[in-house]
Amino acid sequence: MSTVLITGASGGIGYELAKLFARDHHNLVLVARSADKLAEVAAELQPMGVSVKAMALDLGQPFAPKFLFEQLQGMAVDILINNAGFGSYGEFAEMPEEEIVGQINLNITALTELTRLFLPAMIARRSGRIMNVASTAGFQPGPLLAVYYATKAYVISFSEAIANELQHSGVTVTCFCPGATHTGFAKRAGTEKSRLFKQFGAMSGEKVAQAGYRAVMEGRTLAISGVHNWLVAQSSRFAPRKMVTAISRWVAEKSE
Ligand SMILES: NC(=O)c1ccc[n+]([C@@H]2O[C@H](COP(=O)([O-])OP(=O)(O)OC[C@H]3O[C@@H](n4cnc5c(N)ncnc54)[C@H](OP(=O)(O)O)[C@@H]3O)[C@@H](O)[C@H]2O)c1
Repeated sequence: MSTVLITGASGGIGYELAKLFARDHHNLVLVARSADKLAEVAAELQPMGVSVKAMALDLGQPFAPKFLFEQLQGMAVDILINNAGFGSYGEFAEMPEEEIVGQINLNITALTELTRLFLPAMIARRSGRIMNVASTAGFQPGPLLAVYYATKAYVISFSEAIANELQHSGVTVTCFCPGATHTGFAKRAGTEKSRLFKQFGAMSGEKVAQAGYRAVMEGRTLAISGVHNWLVAQSSRFAPRKMVTAISRWVAEKSE
């Protein structure tokens, strides 16, 4: 049985992914800050015949990725899912510093450090899978969510680059890009009233996780959930950047 480490597994897409991996008999290491929610998830999934280790940890703290890695010494992590992430709505000039740094620490730094820590053992075994959860937000600039969109652009660029470096190593790197998804994300980000969530509609966490699960198991380098999200991501490549940025702002704005 292989072992899968999923960050951000106490709810949303990470929780749905955990269910899919448990269903297919993978042992799980689940990470998030909320110990109580993780304990509930573990209690739900253990009866499916898999071992579930729940680790309550704030991955936004500088020491956390290394601490997590050290706690798991002696355990082979076959699949790493860097899913934990959050966004924060508002004008950059008015955004509290902790929101800015918090997004960078979790969405970029923790994801990069965890990848670097768990990768060498995968390369040595000539086997392993890493899935970094980015977003369709990563394909264009995002006024009113400037830092969040930029962190996800980093995740796409970073993941595609290392997927190339690792192409003959036996390790696959998948960058998974959901579009708007019904989870706790929009409430935390303050985007529940945005046109994106109110007018364009969001996919269910379950459907999105199914797409991510398929992508990582097939070893795809880049996967976007939903045909409409794929079309939007493609269209932004050909339109003038100023126009793309203006549309991105309109979509993020709150609608009455
Ligand atoms: N929902 C969307 O519309 C959407 C669209 C595109 C991409 N995404 C991406 O998908 C990923 C999952 O988001 P989601 O929609 O499932 O959001 P969610 O429902 O808010 O879940 C986020 C998960 O991350 C955990 N988490 C948050 N901060 C953490 C921290 N500092 N340390 C450790 N764990 C932390 C949360 O648990 P605790 O609160 O217990 O820590 C939770 O388990 C994120 O990377 C997000 O950017 C989401």
